[in-house]
Amino acid sequence: ARGMGRCEASLASNYTQTSEFADLDWENLGFGLVQTDYMYTAKCGPDGNFDKGGMVPFGPIEMNPASGVLNYGQGLFEGLKAYRKTDGSILLFRPMENAMRMQTGAERMCMPAPPVEQFVNAVKQTVLANKRWVPPTGKGSLYIRPLLVGSGAVLGLAPAPEYTFIIFASPVGNYFKEGLAPINLIVEDKFHRATPGGTGGVKTIGNYASVLMAQKIAKEKGYSDVLYLDAVEKKYLEEVSSCNIFVVKGNVISTPAIKGTILPGITRKSIIDVALSKGFQVEERLVSVDELLDADEVFCTGTAVVVSPVGSITYQGKRIEYSGKQGVGAVSQQLYTSLTSLQMGQAEDSMGWTVQL
Ligand code: COI
Repeated sequence: ARGMGRCEASLASNYTQTSEFADLDWENLGFGLVQTDYMYTAKCGPDGNFDKGGMVPFGPIEMNPASGVLNYGQGLFEGLKAYRKTDGSILLFRPMENAMRMQTGAERMCMPAPPVEQFVNAVKQTVLANKRWVPPTGKGSLYIRPLLVGSGAVLGLAPAPEYTFIIFASPVGNYFKEGLAPINLIVEDKFHRATPGGTGGVKTIGNYASVLMAQKIAKEKGYSDVLYLDAVEKKYLEEVSSCNIFVVKGNVISTPAIKGTILPGITRKSIIDVALSKGFQVEERLVSVDELLDADEVFCTGTAVVVSPVGSITYQGKRIEYSGKQGVGAVSQQLYTSLTSLQMGQAEDSMGWTVQL
């Protein structure tokens, strides 16, 4: 079907779905791109209104070499997941949150954002069109990647005159190569991810390019990823390259407060509410790097990483170990299980977070 023209959602019956599941080794999914059948695209011209958009076969897009995104990085992305329930139906997790976060980010990046309803409908269309790529229950999820980019041509530094909203999807398993085993982090004291007044608090593409160097160096030394400190005092925890961070001490779970340099994770926000509902005390505040020394547990949260227990953190040459049953702390385990069973439809969704397709 490659090369086929734009097809509307109403033509969903034309999707070439030959079997219930795509031909894939579902036992060995990692977090790498598996190309699926269709993607959604919509455009927005100088009037600031997005066209209706629709599904097209997944494939390369045409881009003007002078586009705002290629030259000046005017782009945002989102990430969310769809899970297959045992009855075959599909659950999305909090898609409206992603739609609203894209609007906040777009404002910061001087871009128009698709309306919430269009965003959520587009996500649903993308998942339904690629239904055979949603992994069987327990084997992973379909990771959905909405993108908003300045596709119009510019030369001088200015907002692009045209924007493209794209959604593609890929089946995924665990993010870190450790799987569900605890990850090893190193506190970064040379590079910073974000500065006050910058764009650390929005999901702009540039935030992710800027962490590649520190991540590369850490991986060469055998660490899973980097834990960033604030750029001003170099003392307070910020986040990991791809996820937020939580520190557990007794019944208190602390996480850095959102103050412009930290990405407001939807999993972060969900874990805070799950933890409160389980009777934990949750504190959003400045968390000093010194608190890592006497923490009981540390874990990371993100759409891609879900809840990842941290096994060790190395800071100024000193390695702090966190050990629990099989290396996974009891609190991290409890929160992971609570969140994922809700996301997969295996526990009652008393929060009203899931959207059934
Ligand atoms: C996500 O967790 O969805 C993200 O956007 C992080 C990305 C680096 C995979």
